[in-house]
Amino acid sequence: MSALFTAETAPAPEAGWPETRAVEQVTARLRELPPLVGLEDCLELRRRLAEVAAGRAHLVQGGDCAELFAEVSTHTVRRKAAQLGELADLVAVGTGRPTVPVGRIAGQFAKPRSEPFEPGPLGERLPVYRGDAVNSPPATAEARMPDPGRLLTAHRLSAEINRQLDAEAAAGRRVFTSHEALLLDYELPLTRGLGALRHNASAHLLWIGERTRQPAGRHVAALADTANPVAVKLGPTSTAEDLAELAAVLDPERIPGRLSFVLRFGADRVESVLPGLVRAAAEAGLRPAWICDPMHGNTERSPAGRKIRRMTNVLAEIRAFTRVLRSLGEHPGGIHLELTPDDVTECVSDHHDAAEQPRYWTACDPRLNPGQARLAVATFAEEAA
Ligand code: PEP
Ligand code: CO
Repeated sequence: MSALFTAETAPAPEAGWPETRAVEQVTARLRELPPLVGLEDCLELRRRLAEVAAGRAHLVQGGDCAELFAEVSTHTVRRKAAQLGELADLVAVGTGRPTVPVGRIAGQFAKPRSEPFEPGPLGERLPVYRGDAVNSPPATAEARMPDPGRLLTAHRLSAEINRQLDAEAAAGRRVFTSHEALLLDYELPLTRGLGALRHNASAHLLWIGERTRQPAGRHVAALADTANPVAVKLGPTSTAEDLAELAAVLDPERIPGRLSFVLRFGADRVESVLPGLVRAAAEAGLRPAWICDPMHGNTERSPAGRKIRRMTNVLAEIRAFTRVLRSLGEHPGGIHLELTPDDVTECVSDHHDAAEQPRYWTACDPRLNPGQARLAVATFAEEAA
């Protein structure tokens, strides 16, 4: 059956929409709505990422695991942009190299999940939360019902965030936008233009997640014919063949800055997995930006059943990433973090008990608070300098 579908028409199991007609109406509307970002700005970021790949610059990418509709405001966007700008400045000062800030912002409204259902408060079978672009967090059947109308809200609020980011840029605080290209019912209608001018107008940088990075899959196909810079998350089971096949589809012309790899192995697997991938890239004639995500391979459950991450492991993965790359003569390009300007207690510092997390506010994965984010970024800068 799948042979009948093209990337344009395939259904989207990652959302679980209850019926298809409403989805068709929404995607038709999305096709008419204005682009959220312009081609020129995407190409500008691609040029900056080419500098990262060439060893002359760094990337600091960060933000919420899942943005929330209810949190979108002038004030929150300003605080997030200020935090990213400060973290990028830390790296620039620490390494002496220009550093480009990219937010997980203005579109990070969809989450890939390992299981479609979870037990509710009464033991009932409840659809999981998939991000505000699909359903909403409260553990009730109504809140968790996927609603394609939310894609239009995601577009409207992303446009608002982009307007505020433009105001920040005019005041000297430029932050580029990025999110995971997960919901193709959103990404494809927002992919505009023809040939070399075709770009995904939902964000400057799109990434493909660890769960949807199959080289022949629909997510890779959706970004293959765009001019945006693209990143692929690579987990610990990634092989040299995966990397070569992804490069063949996503970057056949080896355009500088086009392809970045975001590595999320887990602190203790960097040493065994990374050298093989670096060799595969060299053999394929590829010069990607290598980015460290020290969050997603280091997730555990607290005694209370919450997702947690230990700062020890986060920092250990950053150090292993920079050490291995430098020993191979490669440039540690940057860092990809889940973080927030709020003083949360979601990631666990050594002197804190995992049972004590009074400010655990994330809608999905645990984020670094401002102090933890500065420590992670300063560790990166020190090791990459
Ligand atoms: C994420 O970045 O929030 C995420 C789900 O990452 P990954 O695809 O690496 O698991
Ligand atoms: Co996450």
